[in-house]
Amino acid sequence: MQKRLYIQTVGCQMNVLDSEMVVAALRQAGYGLTHSVEAADTVLLNTCSVRQHAEDKVYSLLGQLRTWKRAHPDRVLGVLGCMAQKEQERLLDRAPFVDLIVGPGQLCRIAQLLAAVAAGERPQLAVSLARTAGPRAAIRRSHETFDPLRDPTMRPTPFQAYLRIQIGCDKFCTYCVVPMTRGPEQGRPPDDILREARVLADQGCREITLLGQTVNSYRYDQDGRSTCLADLLERLHEIDALARLKFVTNYPRDMTPRLLETVRDLPKCSPYLHVPLQSGSNAVLSRMKRGYTVEQYREMMHRIWDLLPGAAVSSDFIVGFPGETDEDFQQTVTAVREFRFKNSFIFKYSERAGTKAAERLRDDVPDAVKQARNRELLVLQDAISLEDNRRFLDTTVEVLVEGPSKESRRRGAEGPILQLTGRTPCDRIVVFDGPLRHAGALLPVHILDTTPHTLVGRLQPVSVPPDLVQLQHG
Ligand code: SAH
Ligand code: SF4
Ligand code: F3S
Repeated sequence: MQKRLYIQTVGCQMNVLDSEMVVAALRQAGYGLTHSVEAADTVLLNTCSVRQHAEDKVYSLLGQLRTWKRAHPDRVLGVLGCMAQKEQERLLDRAPFVDLIVGPGQLCRIAQLLAAVAAGERPQLAVSLARTAGPRAAIRRSHETFDPLRDPTMRPTPFQAYLRIQIGCDKFCTYCVVPMTRGPEQGRPPDDILREARVLADQGCREITLLGQTVNSYRYDQDGRSTCLADLLERLHEIDALARLKFVTNYPRDMTPRLLETVRDLPKCSPYLHVPLQSGSNAVLSRMKRGYTVEQYREMMHRIWDLLPGAAVSSDFIVGFPGETDEDFQQTVTAVREFRFKNSFIFKYSERAGTKAAERLRDDVPDAVKQARNRELLVLQDAISLEDNRRFLDTTVEVLVEGPSKESRRRGAEGPILQLTGRTPCDRIVVFDGPLRHAGALLPVHILDTTPHTLVGRLQPVSVPPDLVQLQHG
């Protein structure tokens, strides 16, 4: 009988991609997907450790699953992802009923580990080597992912896919767990990436987002030849069926003129760059060990504005980092005003055990102050995003149609015409009314209204069939 799998994902795009691959691997092992925990005989939580809040969410889910497990002892509960790698068997202290714990670098063994649990060998623990726990090659190997397996039904939409080009991170920002949970930075071989992109294109995918923690630091050396992100983009650009290429997350120091020129010259590359600044104060940046000053970030922004005048740049910020004074925070406010990001993700500093910041710096900014700074920055960013979006009023943008909008899905809307959602080349969300069959097409939409996060428009009549429009804009 087919086993029924329920999987829930917390965390970043890497985890969304990992869950897609876990499902692909388990389908091959005879599992089918269910969207209800009650109907499932295997529940997997793919977890994140980047902030305490993400871990708390998983502990609360595990709390709820304790009763499910008690009622059905034969059913299987697994914790996957970054928390599994970070906490390892410590997870069992708080949740002894968990059957398997699998770090992100060991997910290729998921089917085998579940088979062992079914044979009564529980709990199963599969984690990668710690960063100092052996020879470098062995550590790297223990963090390798299993990217080629893909499952289109697990994607946010069938027309969009993530493609990992880089595993791990070597930047060691003092606040961050990722270099521990995902291991050393390693680029995947370009030929593997190209092969996977062709598979995705054959599956109907039109937009690929290349993933790496510092994606623009990507490098792969083989036979005396070095491949960088710009080289990869050039090769991916030749795949006819693909219409759009994006890449996240960028590291400010590695935003080279060559990469920016490549984005400018290749029409399929989105002029959208997520390059987190994190703080506008040099003292804080230095304690974060980010490796650049605000002045260097400004030079990078000028390079972007010169080479890609229409580009949208977005950022992440951490507020309330240890020792952040009101003056430091005001410098962040000034930086947001100056750089006018398309949008910013703003986080309150969360101390993570095992990081340099946790060892050396006291988490001394009170939560109320973190909260107030978070709110102030968000209000400012929203005002900038709204002003920025208003520039699009009465213009026509090209939208890759994704499907029913959040609002349509919330209302369970049906019928010939729905509110649809999609994105512009520079990653702005657009909603408009149209038939569902447009999903996956690139279409012109005339913008009539805006909010800070959304453009609202009307589909332009197209005198040629959608397929031709796709070609023209491709
Ligand atoms: N590799 C990416 C992002 C990694 S995590 C990069 O370097 O930009 C995503 C975001 O979470 C980070 O950009 C940072 O803003 C935030 N973050 C990471 N660790 C954090 C912590 N300990 N507390 C609060 N926010 C954190
Ligand atoms: Fe974390 Fe810094 Fe690496 Fe990003 S670059 S994953 S913030 S250590
Ligand atoms: Fe979280 Fe791991 Fe991603 S810690 S942000 S899921 S790399």
